[in-house]
Amino acid sequence: MIDMHSHFFPPITRELAAATDRERAPWLAVAPGAHSGHIMLGDKAFRPVGRALWDADFRVAELDSQGVQTQIVCATPVMFGDAWEAARAAEWAQRMNEQALIFCAKHPSRLKALAQVPLQDLNLACAEASRTKRAGCVGVQIGNHLGDKDLDDPQLVNFLIHCAENSIPVLVHPWDMMGGKRMQKWMLPWLVAMPAETQLGMLSLILSGALERIPASLKICFAHGGGSFAFLLGRVDNAWQQRDIVRQDCPQLPSSYARRFFVDSAVFDARALRLLTEVMGVDRVMLGSDYPFPLGEQRIGQLVRDAQMFSAADRQRLLRGNAEGFFAL
Ligand code: CO
Repeated sequence: MIDMHSHFFPPITRELAAATDRERAPWLAVAPGAHSGHIMLGDKAFRPVGRALWDADFRVAELDSQGVQTQIVCATPVMFGDAWEAARAAEWAQRMNEQALIFCAKHPSRLKALAQVPLQDLNLACAEASRTKRAGCVGVQIGNHLGDKDLDDPQLVNFLIHCAENSIPVLVHPWDMMGGKRMQKWMLPWLVAMPAETQLGMLSLILSGALERIPASLKICFAHGGGSFAFLLGRVDNAWQQRDIVRQDCPQLPSSYARRFFVDSAVFDARALRLLTEVMGVDRVMLGSDYPFPLGEQRIGQLVRDAQMFSAADRQRLLRGNAEGFFAL
């Protein structure tokens, strides 16, 4: 198996984080040798986390026990720094990407890194994406939006064009979730807002007509099965047919663009996986676990392995072959 969606967090000390931004740069609070700790923002505990997030040896032992040959590793989104001053975010991204490559270097055939980029500055973001490709990253991860800008913003479209022209695969991860005060309990931002953020990113690219300008060679994958996208695509097509304001920037039926996207398999339900492979195509879905977080697939690949509807060849595509092609592994 190749697991294309997993996160790491480097052992950044409080001092190192404070040198970049005392309040907003995250750091890792963990006692020497401990199996758990916290990602911190300043004095505040942001999230309890486990050892696999920062210990590559520990992680690879778990991958061995789960039968995962290769795992693609990317930043925990709190590391993005998208709201910071651009030069500071660029310097931070470079340090985080060096940490990602160090994390993977002990097990080079098992762990591959995606880079983060200072998305708030197009030139710096393109430069970091190309630099990290030369340094050994297999792609980039970006958030699904940059403050008020969605993926149809010209700056973000131009970044995606750069990635297409330079054969840099892109993983789009939802973050910085909508909903605010109305979603404070029960992990609602993860359960309601994250799937909507992902759908918003995909629809922004379709309905704006951006996919008419972005080369079809762009390899772009959306996390968590594309969130709400596949299930609601019929609703979008109907709206496009009925209302000119939906059609105004989008020349083709929205669903005709679905095959421009890849998604991961993190949907946790065989019926959802069936719908996903029917809507996106069985060649457009890749095993992605969201390891090592509690909302990820705890037995990596179990949903795909247990699904009865796939031929052996299709199951192999989902578990491995599609990701080999996507990341040119
Ligand atoms: Co994730």
